Amino acid sequence: MNFEIAVPYDVYDVFTPSQPAKLTFIDRASINDSLVNALKTPGKQIVVYGHSGSGKTTLLSNKLYQVYDGHITSRCMKGMTFEQIMIDAFDQLAPYYDDQKATKKTDTKKLNLSSSYKVIKLALENSSTFETSKTEKRILPPQLTPQSLGRFLGSSDKCWVIEDFHKVDSSEKQRLSQLLKVFMDLAPEYKKLKIICLGAVDTARQVVSYDEEMKRRIAEIQVPLMSDDEIHQIMNKGEILLNISFPHTVRGKIVKHACGVASICHQLCLNMCINADINEQQKDKFLLSENDFDTAVKMYIDDVSDSLRAAFDKALKQRAKTKFDSSKLIVKALALSHERGLARLNLLKRIQEDAPAYTDAILKGHIKKLLEAEYGAILRYDSDSGLYSFKDPFYRAYAQTILHVESAESNSESLSRPAILKHILLHLNEFTVIEYEDR
Ligand SMILES: Nc1ncnc2c1ncn2[C@@H]1O[C@H](COP(=O)(O)OP(=O)(O)O)[C@@H](O)[C@H]1O
Ligand SMILES: [Mg+2]
Repeated sequence: MNFEIAVPYDVYDVFTPSQPAKLTFIDRASINDSLVNALKTPGKQIVVYGHSGSGKTTLLSNKLYQVYDGHITSRCMKGMTFEQIMIDAFDQLAPYYDDQKATKKTDTKKLNLSSSYKVIKLALENSSTFETSKTEKRILPPQLTPQSLGRFLGSSDKCWVIEDFHKVDSSEKQRLSQLLKVFMDLAPEYKKLKIICLGAVDTARQVVSYDEEMKRRIAEIQVPLMSDDEIHQIMNKGEILLNISFPHTVRGKIVKHACGVASICHQLCLNMCINADINEQQKDKFLLSENDFDTAVKMYIDDVSDSLRAAFDKALKQRAKTKFDSSKLIVKALALSHERGLARLNLLKRIQEDAPAYTDAILKGHIKKLLEAEYGAILRYDSDSGLYSFKDPFYRAYAQTILHVESAESNSESLSRPAILKHILLHLNEFTVIEYEDR
């Protein structure tokens, strides 16, 4: 492997809720193989997509090194322009082109590239001298075209990872998609030239829909949320590395609370260890307890309660005067149904019990929004089962907390943190009361 971690293992290297997993990396064979194949195929551009937390970044960071010695990464943010992304990549190639010794005097192609890199670099520096802020908009020098960036990148043998592709505006996406096309056309010249776009569920469609012809030359790799078995495997690895043991019942609860999201599993396991004072690999096997788990959940809720509140504020904010308060109706219906979630038409039936005139057209238009960041992304949609559900069980419990508070005619703002914690805990442990047909 391309990393070194000291033994005895540190608990923070084992359970990694906010970093790519290394020690506990679970090989998800079929996805990994298709990624490695696409990485090895000259000219193949790659789109890796899936829910946030499904393991895209981890997958890539564990597999890239098998094929590439180096890569550069650009992170997209809302409002970022195509030019900014191009310049970001260009800037990151500087170490390669600044290193004069790397270029043999005889390699004229590389020498030419190296000098044109310097010309562009100079032009960029001059265009930004009067701008100081981080968000500066540097003007793209005319020499920095998609073709020239492709050549700089191709000659460096690095690939380019674009993280969070879904965050840029659609006009810029279209231009990025054309950039992919330029890179494909440069493939005969530079075999390793490759862009890997990582993004949310819709990313693949957004990249490819702009050009049907590109479909063949793009590998679309979906990273699904983890299966229960994969979550168990993370715990297995953690147990061995730290010489600890989770009680059987706790394992079941962790799987249920994680609901396919590996980072929740990592965080709960880490919290349990912290609570039990386990900082590194144990000499004698240490048995964790139910109590450690209960504390771990409290710590988790304490950490996420502000972001839960913010997400629901975004979701429930009424942006325009409409006949129905769609967000509220959807949240309520989902909070009162099975945690697996509901298909749209069943959701509609449930809403109509509250609001008989509510229509499928309104629901269809609104539910999409609740999957997006602007509306707090409180829901997830599983295209295999066709079910809409809360993003994870903590979101669901928070939704139930809001309903609970509403029926008591106060508002969630008047609730103290301990009160919110108490409610969420209560709802997390509750079973679904009413079972409706799910599909
Ligand atoms: N294959 C895996 N094995 C073990 N842990 C994983 C795996 N994939 C992801 N994780 C863990 O899940 C969390 C989210 O992964 P990440 O790669 O950041 O997801 P994404 O990029 O899709 O949002 C991280 O805590 C990471 O350590
Ligand atoms: Mg990621």
